[in-house]
Amino acid sequence: MKICATIDQARDACRAARRAGARIGLIPTMGALHDGHLSLVRAAKGQSNFLAVSIFVNPLQFGPTEDFSTYPRTFERDRDLLKHEGVDLIFAPSVAEMYPKDAVTYVNVEGLSERLDGKSRPGHFRGVTTVVAKLFHIIEPDAAFFGQKDAAQIAIIRRTVRDLNMPVEIVACPIVREPDGLAMSSRNAYLDADQRQQALALHRALSEVQKRFDQGERCAARLIEPGKQVLQREAAVRLDYLEVVNPDTLEPVESVAQGALVAVAAYVGPTRLIDNVVLKAQ
Ligand code: PAJ
Repeated sequence: MKICATIDQARDACRAARRAGARIGLIPTMGALHDGHLSLVRAAKGQSNFLAVSIFVNPLQFGPTEDFSTYPRTFERDRDLLKHEGVDLIFAPSVAEMYPKDAVTYVNVEGLSERLDGKSRPGHFRGVTTVVAKLFHIIEPDAAFFGQKDAAQIAIIRRTVRDLNMPVEIVACPIVREPDGLAMSSRNAYLDADQRQQALALHRALSEVQKRFDQGERCAARLIEPGKQVLQREAAVRLDYLEVVNPDTLEPVESVAQGALVAVAAYVGPTRLIDNVVLKAQ
């Protein structure tokens, strides 16, 4: 497994693999890897024969009061896990390598980037699409793998790729959960035992919405309300949003059909967590 800290090294290694006929897969991550990330690796292994994983805590997608400086960084452990999974290349650049001091060029998906997390985290998605576009230019993957855990991120990246004619297939992989239903996240490490327990309310709220949908409710407001009540019962949980949206445009829907995305974000203590479910017919 090759570890590259510079853009030139990574680009050279990927181009050599491509010349040798490889189909290149890329998994962008911010490290602090868990089974959610590793599920992407396993999916990608089946669909590519040269697999690159990037590890980069991207300052551009963090707000000024967010957790960029405290975000967990566990490079040695991540490296060992990825080696064990048979990954071919880790791209782990420094901030200076990725962003020259005078960089002023951004990729922004207008409209979509202001919805869901974009509403409460201004600039977040611009940071994501900019770094992902840069990673696509560096690695030049045939396919890139993203988790459904960040459903809005997938919609926005798909739109970027379409609008800018990027020759990369975007593959969405299912959410990996802890046995009790909590969606795996690097930020779960911030939770104490009590908060960890209360964090289950996110998944419970989504299950409540799915249950009401199963019972025949199709009005978004009446689907969301019981979900909000589930969250309100937990003292440490403060709702950011619970919305039913179109999974491609991220626009709220009023009359809900199968395939709609129910997305939730809530603070559990100081930690902001997200989760979602795509409504399915029984
Ligand atoms: P990060 O939060 O490290 O996530 C990397 C990838 O792992 C994302 O595609 C995310 O959706 C996926 N992932 C995280 N938790 C998951 C889970 N429980 N189940 C399935 N997939 C999961 O998302 C980012 O980093 C960044 O925004 C990035 C795309 C790397 C750009 O900086």
